[in-house]
Amino acid sequence: MNLPNKTLAFIGAGNMAEALIRGLLVNKVLPGQQIIATDVRADRLEFLAKSYSIRTSQDNAAASREADIIILAVKPQHMSLALASLAIQPTALIISIAAGITTARIEKELAGTARVIRVMPNTPALVGAGAAALALGARATPADLEIAEGILNAVGTTVRVEEKLLDAVTALSGSGPAYVFLVAEALIKAGIEQGLPADIARKLAIHTIFGAAVLLAESTDEPAELRRKVTSPGGTTAAALKVFEDRHLTAIFAAALDAAARRSRELSAA
Ligand SMILES: NC(=O)c1ccc[n+]([C@@H]2O[C@H](COP(=O)([O-])OP(=O)(O)OC[C@H]3O[C@@H](n4cnc5c(N)ncnc54)[C@H](OP(=O)(O)O)[C@@H]3O)[C@@H](O)[C@H]2O)c1
Repeated sequence: MNLPNKTLAFIGAGNMAEALIRGLLVNKVLPGQQIIATDVRADRLEFLAKSYSIRTSQDNAAASREADIIILAVKPQHMSLALASLAIQPTALIISIAAGITTARIEKELAGTARVIRVMPNTPALVGAGAAALALGARATPADLEIAEGILNAVGTTVRVEEKLLDAVTALSGSGPAYVFLVAEALIKAGIEQGLPADIARKLAIHTIFGAAVLLAESTDEPAELRRKVTSPGGTTAAALKVFEDRHLTAIFAAALDAAARRSRELSAA
C-alpha cells in the first residue's frame, strides 16, 4: 500500500513510533515529508528529524489539525492529556497503539465523532518482525481498517479481531516476546550447567530460537508436526520433551496467558 497525499501525524515519538516511521519509509508507504512526529521532548524530535528526514513539532494541535491519519503513540497514562491537546479534522482517522485504552474511551474523549482503530502491537516491530492485532471502533470503516493494516504491515504481520479479544491478544503476542526471552535465558543457564562456555550457550540458544521461528513461519507443517519430525522415539529430544510433559508445561502456558489476560482486563477498566 502507499498513501499518496495523506499526512500522517504521530502523537508521541518514542520507540514504537520510530519503528513505524522506519518501516513506513523503508517500505515506501509514504515519503518523510508526509510524516509529522510530535513529542514533549525536543531532543527526541531533533534525533528523528535528522535520522529520517520527517517533519517534527512540539505542537500537538497544529500537527493533528493538518493530519489525515493520527497515530496515538504515547504511554497509556499520558493518553488523556494527549487527546485533550489535539485539534483533529472531522475526517481524520485515529489509530491508537496504546495498551489497554478502549476505542470507546478515545471516542468519548474526542467528543464522540472520531473514527478510531485500536492496535495491539509487540516489540519485534522494532526489527520489522512485529505481530499486531487490529480492532475497529464504533465509527471506523472497513476502508479505515485497510489503511491501518497498510501502516502496521510495514513493521510485521497483522490480524483482525473484535475489540473484546484484545486482552487475549495482549496475553499471547503483546506479552509473548517476554516468554520467548525467558526461554532463551533458561536455555542459556541450562546449557552452562551442562558445561558449555557462556558465550557459546548464548549463541546456540539465540540461533536455535531464531532458526526454529523461521522454520515455523516458512513451513506449511503445524508446530506439532515439526516437533514430531525432530523427535525420534527413544532419542534425546523425546527424553527432554517427556520432562516438559511430566511437569505440565502446556498447562503452565495456559495459566500464564490467563493471568496476563486478566491483568489486561483490570488495566483497561482502571
Ligand atoms: N513498547 C512496546 O512493547 C509496546 C507494545 C504494545 C503497545 N505499546 C504501546 O505503544 C505506546 C508507545 O510505547 P513506546 O514504548 O513507544 O513509548 P515511549 O518510548 O515512552 O514513547 C512515548 C513518547 O511520547 C512522549 N509523550 C508523552 N506525553 C506526550 C504528549 N502529551 N504529547 C506528545 N508526546 C508525548 C513521551 O515523552 P516522555 O518520555 O517525556 O513521557 C515519549 O517520548 C504505548 O501506549 C504502549 O502501550 C508498546
